[in-house]
Amino acid sequence: MKIFTSIPALKIWLKDNKSNNASIGYVPTMGFLHEGHEALLNKAIEENDLVVLSIFVNPLQFGENEDFDRYPKNIEKDIEVAKKYGVDAIFHPSVHEMYPSEMSATFKVHHMDVLCGAKRPGHFDGVATVVMKLFGIVTPDRAYFGLKDAQQVAVIERLVKDYHLNIDIVRVPTVRENDGLAKSSRNVNLTKSERAEAPYIYKTLLEVKNWILDERCYDTDKIEVKLKTLLSKRLSGNLDYAEVRGFPSLKKMKTLSSDVMIAVAIKYSKARLIDNVIFHLE
Ligand code: PAJ
Repeated sequence: MKIFTSIPALKIWLKDNKSNNASIGYVPTMGFLHEGHEALLNKAIEENDLVVLSIFVNPLQFGENEDFDRYPKNIEKDIEVAKKYGVDAIFHPSVHEMYPSEMSATFKVHHMDVLCGAKRPGHFDGVATVVMKLFGIVTPDRAYFGLKDAQQVAVIERLVKDYHLNIDIVRVPTVRENDGLAKSSRNVNLTKSERAEAPYIYKTLLEVKNWILDERCYDTDKIEVKLKTLLSKRLSGNLDYAEVRGFPSLKKMKTLSSDVMIAVAIKYSKARLIDNVIFHLE
């Protein structure tokens, strides 16, 4: 397995190895890998001849008071995980390698100022900018993204469509702990009692989903009242948002139809957790 910190070195390696129409699968991450990332790697390995994993904590997507400085890191362990899955190359650039000088142009994501887009202004602009840079470097055939970050998937899918990129975006279902908590690098920043109650996020999402289906209640106002009431009863963290929207349109609907996402963000003392369930209405 190759490890690159330099963009030109990775590009040369890709050129040398892309012969014979080899397909490139790409998994962009910020590292501190867990089973969620591993599910993306697994799928990429299954579906491609070559797999590139990037590990880069992108400063552009963090707000001023967010956790860029304390974002967890363990590059040695990440390298072991990548080796275990049979990754062909890791790209692990410095901030200077990715942003050697001030960018002359960056991406501005439109119509996404809802959910995390509303609560983390500029976040998806930073994600779109770095992902477009990374796509330009890696030139993948397929790129793998987790549905835990469903809004990110919607943003990237739109970007690929808007810019006519020949990249298939592969959606990967959320991987969870045994108690239902969505795996996240940020879970290590939960206190013991926060960690103990956090599984109620997913339990509540499932309960509300089943209630919608059983009661055939498609009135979003009613659903959100129920969702927020249950969450605030069960969780000590601050509710950042709890909403029902279309997916991947992310549109608010008065009455639910077709593909639906219930999405939640909870702010704890040192970690902000997000989760969602996505399902289809007959
Ligand atoms: P990061 O948070 O490291 O996540 C990398 C990828 O792993 C994302 O596509 C994310 O949705 C996926 N992922 C994380 N937890 C998951 C889980 N429990 N189950 C399934 N997939 C999961 O997302 C980012 O990094 C960054 O924004 C990035 C796209 C790399 C751009 O900087």
